[in-house]
Amino acid sequence: MFFELTEEQKAVRDAARDFAQSALKSGVIERDETQTFPAEQIKELGQLGFMGMMVSPEYGGGGMDTISYVLAMEEISKIDASVSVCMSVNNSLVCWGLEKFGNEEQKRKYLVPLATGEKIGAFCLSEPEAGSDATSQRTTAIDMGDHYLLNGTKNWITNGSSASIYLVIAQTDVEKGHKGINCLIIERGMDGFIVGAKENKLGIRGSDTHTLLFNDVKVPKENRIGEDGFGFKFAMKTLEGGRIGIASQALGIASGAMELAVAYSKERKAFGKPISEHQAIAFKLADMATEIEAARLLCLKAAWLKDQKLPFGKYSAMAKLYASQTAMKTTVEAVQVHGGYGFVKEYHVERLMRDAKITQIYEGTSEVQKIVISRAVLSE
Ligand code: CAA
Repeated sequence: MFFELTEEQKAVRDAARDFAQSALKSGVIERDETQTFPAEQIKELGQLGFMGMMVSPEYGGGGMDTISYVLAMEEISKIDASVSVCMSVNNSLVCWGLEKFGNEEQKRKYLVPLATGEKIGAFCLSEPEAGSDATSQRTTAIDMGDHYLLNGTKNWITNGSSASIYLVIAQTDVEKGHKGINCLIIERGMDGFIVGAKENKLGIRGSDTHTLLFNDVKVPKENRIGEDGFGFKFAMKTLEGGRIGIASQALGIASGAMELAVAYSKERKAFGKPISEHQAIAFKLADMATEIEAARLLCLKAAWLKDQKLPFGKYSAMAKLYASQTAMKTTVEAVQVHGGYGFVKEYHVERLMRDAKITQIYEGTSEVQKIVISRAVLSE
């Protein structure tokens, strides 16, 4: 067991930290208030190589390991979780799914522009009636010989309007249940594909979450990923890795809130001394620090297992479950440490508290993570 990061991993972490401090911090409150997608910032993130971090250089990516990805996600999420969710979906759902399961032609055509940050991707699984119960797909992709005819509605799609490449999960053969599901690559601009309403959200308000509508979209057969019927497994396998991204996002939200609480508690005086010297506050900081370290270790363990090509699904679910709980708890406490100031936007912690909540919901609710973990435990 060796807990030290390599020089390369430290350099990635520091570059992400510098970027978050210099390019994200100044406008984050306004973007949250006005629900403005961070288009310029995402472009820069792409130019720095963070949008396809783990993709092989052969396809335009950074060729970095998953540990570096965790470190970068933490640093970006400390400042702006609306940026990091875009980064996470692009990296671990769309790019990873395409690189792992796409064919050579699909990789050249779709993965390269996504990995270089030239284009943004979206992962479309959730539906009005298929959230946790992901096998209940109502969107249909009917086999028409040389193409599929895609019809249906997808909900809560991250990067809904900013993306130009969409991985869409749909049911081809109802009789086959989850074995009759496919994943199709859809391009922005295909006839019948409509980007619907944008959600007005509690948190991650800079991120563009949309409903998507598909009305008789003709999708060429070559846009299917994997064999016929592979779509549900594709989604499950991809989400296993995606959960490392969201766990790291939750970790960053928590550690960002703690950094703010520590700094404020050293400055703010009450009863003749900085509030950090009162045990009521110091003990909160101790709990935050301990839980954040535990969440970080879970994220890194899941990432390490993935890098070693060992099974990691149980650990990515554990990391997401625990880190998202930690994000929620830490941000609530960070607001409390700030007192009245915590309740106003200028101090950032109220935004982090709102952003934390979604980490317990997307890429599988906490309850879904518990299903995954308990099934793994019971089958061991
Ligand atoms: N790897 C490979 N195959 C898997 C798998 C995995 N991790 N998990 C399940 N499967 C396979 C099973 O083996 C099974 O196949 P066989 O019948 O051939 O054995 C098939 O998939 C069905 O599996 P289950 O019977 O376990 O399915 P289930 O209906 O009981 O559901 C679940 C399990 C874990 C609850 C799953 O439905 C799930 O993960 N739901 C949550 C979905 C989710 O995370 N949605 C998030 C949307 S994306 C998002 O949020 C992105 C964003 O915007 C940020």
